Amino acid sequence: MGKLVLAAKVSHVPSLMLSEAPDSPLKQARAPAVEALCELGRRARTREVTTFVVFDTHWLSNFGYHINANAQHRGSFTSHEAPHMIQDLRYDLPGDTALAEAIAAQAQGTGLKVLAHKVPTLGLEYGTIVPMHYLNPDGWAKVVSIAQPLFTTLDESRALGEAVRRAIDQSDERVAILASGSLSHRLWPNKDLGPDAWTSIASEFNRQVDLRVLQLWQERRYAEFIAMLPDYAVKCNGEGGMGDTIMLFAALGWDAYHGAAEQLCDYFPSSGSGQVNVEFHVS
Ligand SMILES: [Fe+2]
Repeated sequence: MGKLVLAAKVSHVPSLMLSEAPDSPLKQARAPAVEALCELGRRARTREVTTFVVFDTHWLSNFGYHINANAQHRGSFTSHEAPHMIQDLRYDLPGDTALAEAIAAQAQGTGLKVLAHKVPTLGLEYGTIVPMHYLNPDGWAKVVSIAQPLFTTLDESRALGEAVRRAIDQSDERVAILASGSLSHRLWPNKDLGPDAWTSIASEFNRQVDLRVLQLWQERRYAEFIAMLPDYAVKCNGEGGMGDTIMLFAALGWDAYHGAAEQLCDYFPSSGSGQVNVEFHVS
């Protein structure tokens, strides 16, 4: 029987990888978040994860849910959205076609519009590539990446997350789920972009709500968090409607989940958004 052995909310901001340049001014600012992602990778290895399932809020779709079911993810990625930040980033990671197709079948069984694709030229987005760079750098585990539709509902994303869990439980895999996306996500407007934008929040309201959310998670007050999630996603400019977080909690058991939330680095701003790395324990 398959098992969910690790679940986490993770950041995928490009400044993580930019901070690796020898002369990067972001080195210190991003070091705790980088270490947190590396620690999640070590934990995944220790727990003998065989497949990472990534809810990628940077892979946004207009029509339906999509799953990258390729047997191998191989390519050189330049971000359309931020080509000055991510260029020619090579990746070569094994996929998990069987689990991807099982997730699609489970979701389709609930009436959800979801497709699993085996198209060699369908590459990964940086919401998957960046976390894998730290957690799965040499492709020691398989990867399934799931897109986030722009025009969907909380109920649909919840159904997708629940389908993921059923597919995991019925598989032969030891799975880590990563909800890859921001907390709040108001970015700095163009005219205000500058060196300070990397490390400052664009909305104090958003920062205050993000900190409250982290407190609720620490206190395991998940039912209250889920009750506020629809408003949080809208009023704090959720990345992809916070679909990654909706799917994560659906996979964990929704408001019946009572595990510990372990914050692995301080909350940090990036380009105006709110970021964090948190493991949600499933043992
Ligand atoms: Fe993003």
